[in-house]
Amino acid sequence: MAATDNGEFDHHEPGLTEAARYARYAELRACPVEHSDRHGGFWITGRHAEVEAICRDWATFASGQGVFIPDLTPGIRSAGLEQDPPEHTGVRRLFVEMLGRPAVRAAEPEIRAITRRHVATFAETGGGDFMAGVAGRVPVEAIAVMAGFSGSTVARVRELTEQLWNRLTGRGTPPQPGEPTLGRLFVEEAELRRAEPHDDFLTRLAAEDLTDRELVAFLTSTAVAGHETTMAGMGNLAYQLASDPALQARLAAAADGTGPDDLGALAARLVEESLRHRSPVQLMARTAVADTTVGGEAVAAGERVVVHFGAANRDPARWATDPTRLPPDEFDPDRDATGHLAFGWGLHRCVGAFLATLELRLLGEELARYELAVAAEPEPPVPTAGGSFMGFERLDLTITPRPVRAAAAGSGA
Ligand code: HEM
Repeated sequence: MAATDNGEFDHHEPGLTEAARYARYAELRACPVEHSDRHGGFWITGRHAEVEAICRDWATFASGQGVFIPDLTPGIRSAGLEQDPPEHTGVRRLFVEMLGRPAVRAAEPEIRAITRRHVATFAETGGGDFMAGVAGRVPVEAIAVMAGFSGSTVARVRELTEQLWNRLTGRGTPPQPGEPTLGRLFVEEAELRRAEPHDDFLTRLAAEDLTDRELVAFLTSTAVAGHETTMAGMGNLAYQLASDPALQARLAAAADGTGPDDLGALAARLVEESLRHRSPVQLMARTAVADTTVGGEAVAAGERVVVHFGAANRDPARWATDPTRLPPDEFDPDRDATGHLAFGWGLHRCVGAFLATLELRLLGEELARYELAVAAEPEPPVPTAGGSFMGFERLDLTITPRPVRAAAAGSGA
């Protein structure tokens, strides 16, 4: 099938309602690949099969020339995310050491305690903006735990990550001479670990043969990739629960042991469905390094191709094959959403996925102890970083503790 070639797709388009946005995604999927003339021109696909195939073929569709359109940080490449093999290989190994399944499992009790503390503090006043109160706090603290930052440094890491992110997305104030930066903090922390080694990842990282610049690039990439993404995922999950009392009741029954579901399994399934349904990372770009084809269309070497995870995650060709499940534009708590592309696919598949899904599952388990409601219908999720990321800016919820049954009160969950 030929591309529509209307040259119009623009992921920076602001102010779309969710219905308009997802209708646009359906148009995008009407052909395997579409060309847009915006931002210097790019190809874009929203089909699950094409997105997966492009992500798998990293040798043809490279990331090293940047994955944001337009470039978010001209001249600076994000560690891992915007690198190709062989440079990518060693960096990925370090990421896996820090964020792989064993490390994340070991950190679960600490991350559960962080989540519990922030949700309880949020509930003390009966609610407010969930993004500021909970979603904006847990992810950076969880990353700090994985890296091995001390408790006293965590607040500064959070503050400086927010400052950096706001600048990257055009919302911050310009840097002032001599002001503290995330990079300087990371270098200072690494020097402290070299002087006095601890049993943590930062000590291991500080012992690697890396320049300060490489060390800062690695930790900054982690902080940036793991902050706003997980924050958006938390907001989406909380919104879904707050707007669906039946789903909340089901989760609460699982927590009490009075329903048919296992709490952890139900929370994990809701997390996958939430990531599929409202994907925090909407899209990423690649650059073709050789003449190739996408969905039958010729793509020349040097041309950019955008993989639209958000559209692929609602592709009926992938998600409407089971007639017992709701259509893909709807949230279905009983859908098996594994196989979604919210974490990408292949070589660059999110190396923080274990951590992110743990954080989200723990949030779901924690929220099972509360009754939630939407206090004010939020503005539609806002695309940031050039439309690549998307989440609620503000989410006003009310929250009250549910009476805890004796059986549930004694469990760790
Ligand atoms: C719900 C939360 C998250 C979502 C939806 C998400 C999504 C993604 C996606 C789609 C990619 C692939 C990008 C591409 O193919 O170009 C990716 C890569 C990456 N993510 Fe995540 N992410 C999340 C959380 C995290 C966390 C918590 C961390 C770290 C603490 C993290 C670190 C990274 C890194 C370092 C990469 C680059 C990996 C590589 O290129 O090898 N992410 N993420």
